[in-house]
Amino acid sequence: MDDDRLANPDEAPDDRGVDTTLRPDSLDAFVGQDSVRQQLGIFLEAARQREEALDHVLLAGPPGLGKTSLAIILASEMGVEITVTSGPVLERKGDLAAILTALGPGDVLFIDEIHRLNRSVEEVLYPAMEDFQLDVVLGQGPQARTLRLDLPRFTLVGATTRSGLLTTPLRDRFGVVQRLDYYGPDDLGRIILRSSALLDVDVAPEGARAIAMRSRGTPRIANRLLRRVRDVAQVQGLGRVDQDVAERALALLEVDEAGLDDLDRKILTHLAVTFSGRPTGLGTLADAVGESPDTIEDVYEPFLLQQGLLARTPRGRVATPRAYVHLGLDVPRVAAAQDALFGDDAGAAWGTLP
Ligand SMILES: Nc1ncnc2c1ncn2[C@@H]1O[C@H](COP(=O)(O)OP(=O)(O)O)[C@@H](O)[C@H]1O
Ligand SMILES: [Mg+2]
Repeated sequence: MDDDRLANPDEAPDDRGVDTTLRPDSLDAFVGQDSVRQQLGIFLEAARQREEALDHVLLAGPPGLGKTSLAIILASEMGVEITVTSGPVLERKGDLAAILTALGPGDVLFIDEIHRLNRSVEEVLYPAMEDFQLDVVLGQGPQARTLRLDLPRFTLVGATTRSGLLTTPLRDRFGVVQRLDYYGPDDLGRIILRSSALLDVDVAPEGARAIAMRSRGTPRIANRLLRRVRDVAQVQGLGRVDQDVAERALALLEVDEAGLDDLDRKILTHLAVTFSGRPTGLGTLADAVGESPDTIEDVYEPFLLQQGLLARTPRGRVATPRAYVHLGLDVPRVAAAQDALFGDDAGAAWGTLP
């Protein structure tokens, strides 16, 4: 995956340092997602009052919306340690068993990309989550014995970009399930102003708003664009980042007024032009744009869907009339008919497109 792509909300290595600086470290510093914040605040308070571990929490939503940040916040608000791992890293049962047995009472175990746990590892989690027990098999074949170990009461926080891929037994073991949604421009503007103070960049509220409008509803992208705009403003001696400076910098960065980057436009152009508006399968589309199907489905598609630029039909993906308009293409009659079927109010809240 191309890490330099501005819209790609997956962390590029050179952004890690900054991401840490900018990570909100308390529930109060976490901007937006009001209902999630409110509910988690109550569950935290209740657990603290009872002096119990917090119930297991599943956080779902597209990349870059604050899942990892929330996991870290939950641990710090509970005053406990956090151990961070991820689904693909836990290859064998023993990997998970080693982590579980090292946890202290009340500690948080954060498993990122939990939908990518393999089945046998996942099965170790069931008794651990439910009864705080770990079954260890000693020996092999007919001699094998199972030893049951008690684990401290801990909190599992799972994060997933694809909650639909979670098995039912796993999902059912989370007492709290929260979905993060794309942020509106006001919240993104607040995040950008907060970050600009932390990064010591002079950004006017209108400059923050201009960046917010192109951030695809995603705080990680907002922070990344802010850094790039800062670079442009610095090198070109543009000074304070007001609306004009932000827009000039963003134009130079080739992020369009809807926040779409090169690959977004490529996806839509292929659907509209190469495949002549016919419904196209994910694999075919991925081949055409030269990106993995997973990345398209996890990273690019959710935003295009939310903006009403792309629709998923039973026979494949199509570009919506809104996408044709955005690309400056004539809207074909077939797309207009699709619009009548699927509607185009998905992106209305943003109002960034004609
Ligand atoms: N609600 C928020 N308030 C402020 N900053 C945020 C918020 N959500 C995310 N961020 C910023 O975006 C970055 C990416 O968030 P992260 O928690 O890593 O997302 P995810 O784990 O969902 O991919 C964080 O480092 C932080 O700088
Ligand atoms: Mg994360």
